[in-house]
Amino acid sequence: MAKPRLQAAVLVISDTASQDPSTDRARAVLGDLIAIEGNDQWDITKHDIVPDDVSAIQRAVTKYCDGEDYVNFLITTGGTGFSMKDCTPEAVVPLIHKHAPGLVHGMLAASLEITPFAVMSRPVAGVRNRTLIVTLPGSPKGAKENLQAILKLVPHACHQAAGGDSRTMHAGGVEKLEDEAGVSSNKRQKVYHHDHSHNHSHSHSHSHSHGGHIVPRAHTRPEDRPVSNDPRAGPSNRYRESPYPMLSVDDAVSLIIQYSPSPEPIIMPVNGSLVGYILAEDVHAHYPVPAYRASIVDGYAVIVSKDGPSTKGVFPVDSVSHAAPGEVPALQRGQISRITTGAPLPPGANAVVMVEDTVLRSMTDDGQEEKVVEILTDQVKPDENIREVGSDIKAGEIVLRKGEEVTDVGGELGLLASVGKAKVFVYRKPVVGVLSTGDEIVMHDRPGPLRLGEVRDCNRPALMAAIKGWGFQVLDYGIARDKPGSLEEHLRNALRNVDVIVTSGGVSMGELDLLKPTIERSLGGTIHFGRVNMKPGKPTTFATISLKDNEGDPATKLIFSLPGNPASALVTSHLFVLPSLLHSSGKERAHGLAQVRVILEEEIRCDPKRPEYHRVSIVAGQDGFLHASSTGGQRSSKVGSLRRANGLLVLPAREGTVAKGEMSDALLMGRLGGL
Ligand SMILES: *[C@@H]1O[C@H](CO)[C@@H](O)[C@H](O)[C@H]1NC(C)=O
Ligand SMILES: *[C@@H]1O[C@H](CO)[C@@H](O)[C@H](O)[C@H]1NC(C)=O
Ligand SMILES: *[C@@H]1O[C@H](CO)[C@@H](O)[C@H](O)[C@H]1NC(C)=O
Repeated sequence: MAKPRLQAAVLVISDTASQDPSTDRARAVLGDLIAIEGNDQWDITKHDIVPDDVSAIQRAVTKYCDGEDYVNFLITTGGTGFSMKDCTPEAVVPLIHKHAPGLVHGMLAASLEITPFAVMSRPVAGVRNRTLIVTLPGSPKGAKENLQAILKLVPHACHQAAGGDSRTMHAGGVEKLEDEAGVSSNKRQKVYHHDHSHNHSHSHSHSHSHGGHIVPRAHTRPEDRPVSNDPRAGPSNRYRESPYPMLSVDDAVSLIIQYSPSPEPIIMPVNGSLVGYILAEDVHAHYPVPAYRASIVDGYAVIVSKDGPSTKGVFPVDSVSHAAPGEVPALQRGQISRITTGAPLPPGANAVVMVEDTVLRSMTDDGQEEKVVEILTDQVKPDENIREVGSDIKAGEIVLRKGEEVTDVGGELGLLASVGKAKVFVYRKPVVGVLSTGDEIVMHDRPGPLRLGEVRDCNRPALMAAIKGWGFQVLDYGIARDKPGSLEEHLRNALRNVDVIVTSGGVSMGELDLLKPTIERSLGGTIHFGRVNMKPGKPTTFATISLKDNEGDPATKLIFSLPGNPASALVTSHLFVLPSLLHSSGKERAHGLAQVRVILEEEIRCDPKRPEYHRVSIVAGQDGFLHASSTGGQRSSKVGSLRRANGLLVLPAREGTVAKGEMSDALLMGRLGGL
């Protein structure tokens, strides 16, 4: 059953914003929140800004609550503090007919979980006539937190206040109400509600499921988990064998998807920057396309009627309708109007005669304009040569669906533009930080020859290029040295600004593998796997760290620690990092890379123990099939085997070879070239 939509108004109370409305951020923040978390039940129909002045506030409040044009929910923001000018509660309280201390309590309780300063807020809530009023603080963050705490619960109150039958609404009990509101008493969501079991233990587990995200929870107990080396212990106390269990590639990807944050809707302007984003809403056409009846030919607009005079004959040319905006005068019987392709039909006209079916009889005296034209046919039917209103897209039609990508082919952007969409909800794309680790690594562009043991950093530039190529913003965090402090500092620095960190190097069994201990011991992270059964890429490590983001909201950051070998780093980034980024940006696909069948151009030996991802160059042959040839030495440290590689042959773990000419599965990493 579709719920009736509720009308909300936002009243911004601020001396500053009333002088310069561009300083008001609260309205946008609250609008976004209602759009995202409002269960699609709300329309914000009214918005106003008034100064901190009791009578101005009271005029605005009564405007929204009294009379037939009332709103269901009036949200005010601002003026609830302790400064001299703050007077919102004083203005609103006398206007309230029924007080709602429960809502006040709910908002304060939610804020108190975030900051003790919430006690400094003086919210008011209640009903006037048929309108529920709440007064939120003026800071966008505070206002958002308060509204978030009650938003899912207020529709019920609004329906009741507007005269809904409370007996029907309560049929089914509290559980049904909770169900409809999308809240529940067991799973404590980021919503406050009355705990009807009267269990006031207030355990406050802080398991806020933020915006519907899955909160990562470990499936093993800490004492059952492998623990990374303690870097202070000497080499003799280190593990001889990796303590992490060996996962299959599929299981590793499933774990990654499970722990990758769910997509988060944001609003973006419709322009070229939207390419690569996934839509987070169904896009409706608010207006029909075309918006007016238009001619599909060059010719003359005429009035055709079954019993009326024939269109055949000699007519004065009354006016001209070009395909340019403006008023078009109405056509009278006995007149015709010259019209160009795409131009709006003059009112009164109901068909267009093609210019080919006419001859010019006379011109104006200056020879510039047609004066009289003869139409040679009377076969023209009503509606002929007319493109109807909405014949392309009807008003209200869904033109693009949630989950569709805005591609660089351009079609989706064109469609958004054609229906006049200026802003659209899409899923935010995670931001990625890349860093290399190791004392032996030097900047690739350091002049001069390398000293003994030094290696140029080729992974960072290569990984950054790949991530950028997938369409994600990527930040450079340089090279971290093999000292606990350096690595921790680089990681902390990156955690402040990015959602996903990709490191390379330092994850093998080497004595100096500091990464796992730093993640677990210094940053409080959880390592989900540290070994994958594959070649190359066995030591690939995946970890999550839960913390509060810059806004103070709980957030999960991901760390992918890829092996230092250039080929391993690039292969594992495509197999593990890409699916996570796609998942968090709204793409409903477990695998990042497209799987194709290819014909082998040469015999390739399999690895008896581990499934292998063999770098190949895949081309579209003249026979129309895809052909793959190895890019040479496949040892995981071989830099040269990456050149020209645009695919990975997926070889099973077995003895023997795959013969030349056989078909094999391959994953496409790059664009496909032709022979
Ligand atoms: C709303 O309440 C005010 C004050 O009690 C009253 O004067 C007014 O008539 C009411 N309006 C409606 C539509 O109920
Ligand atoms: C109250 O809730 C706590 C925590 O969820 C639980 O341990 C306790 O058993 C509950 N008590 C009652 C009386 O339900
Ligand atoms: C799209 O609009 C945003 C906000 O106005 C702007 O920052 C961005 O540069 C625009 N992108 C393009 C490609 O015009």
